[in-house]
Amino acid sequence: MEAPEKNLALDLVRVTEAAALASARWLGKGNNDAGDQAAVDALRLSFNSLHVKGRVIIGEGEKDNAPMLFNGEEVGTGHGPALDVAVDPVEGTKLLAYGRPNAISVVGIAPAGTMYNPGPSFYMQKLVVPPAARDVVDIDAPVKENLKNIAKSLGKDVDDLVVFVLDKPRHEKLIHKIREAGARIQLHTDGDVAGALMAVDPRSEVDVMMGTGGTPEGVLAACAIKGIGGQMLARLDPQSYVEKEAIREAGIDTRDILTVDTLVRSDEVFFAATGISGGTFLRGVQYLGNGAVTHSMVIRGKTGTLRYIESYHNWDRLMKISSVKYD
Ligand code: FBP
Repeated sequence: MEAPEKNLALDLVRVTEAAALASARWLGKGNNDAGDQAAVDALRLSFNSLHVKGRVIIGEGEKDNAPMLFNGEEVGTGHGPALDVAVDPVEGTKLLAYGRPNAISVVGIAPAGTMYNPGPSFYMQKLVVPPAARDVVDIDAPVKENLKNIAKSLGKDVDDLVVFVLDKPRHEKLIHKIREAGARIQLHTDGDVAGALMAVDPRSEVDVMMGTGGTPEGVLAACAIKGIGGQMLARLDPQSYVEKEAIREAGIDTRDILTVDTLVRSDEVFFAATGISGGTFLRGVQYLGNGAVTHSMVIRGKTGTLRYIESYHNWDRLMKISSVKYD
């Protein structure tokens, strides 16, 4: 038996809340960069108050292109556990800029050296299912067979299933095969971290996520899936010659199949996500005049606990001490 340890996810949620509170002001304003910048500033400031020695593995990109939260940046106070850090201050930048649902702020942490480093890979094929279906999926099996096995393990018929797919031209054939198999589809323009979270979230009507999206987003989603159970099968899926060559030069084999356990190689994983724009998954930031309400999910891998947190933020008190202007 062990005494309860500190649940770092309860600190992380303050970080994603800060990013959501700062960036949701840009909802629907048509400005990709401003929303992202507001979230990056708030997230970084808040993260740096945590007593951890963090290193960004999944961040805003390489140093030269990203002045903040760049890959390799040290974050936290520098004292405390050494951690790999995955952040996306606004996952779904365009969703936020155009006021579409499911822009979220996300952070995952795991012990140093345990997170998959995407290197030069931008895109990855992903198949995400809830815990009951974790052992019945095969990334190489026909779509119809996977859906049949998933439905059976969930005690459903194939036509009960809802599959989350990014609405991209590259998914034309996939969408056709899912329809042919008889399953239902939710098409979203962006945001496959939310899609993966929905597939494993017991409150969501989404059962499966399929298709190709960002590799960094895949690692972020894996932090949550590792935490609450479920499976993500993935394989790098370069979308250009340049990307393919860069992966080859880095000595990575694109045929390797990645699982949630190879994407995050520790149970000591923590994850938090806060809704920014709202929608079917996590409700968005609601500004109240004298404060705001945020909705988050918080996961601790060691125990598999998933918490939903509704927070009421009070401007009168917060603005006296906060260096980020949220009101
Ligand atoms: P951003 O927040 O970086 O804009 O990512 C949004 C997103 O939709 C991800 O959820 C997804 O993994 C990726 O972009 C898909 O990339 P693309 O739009 O190039 O197909």
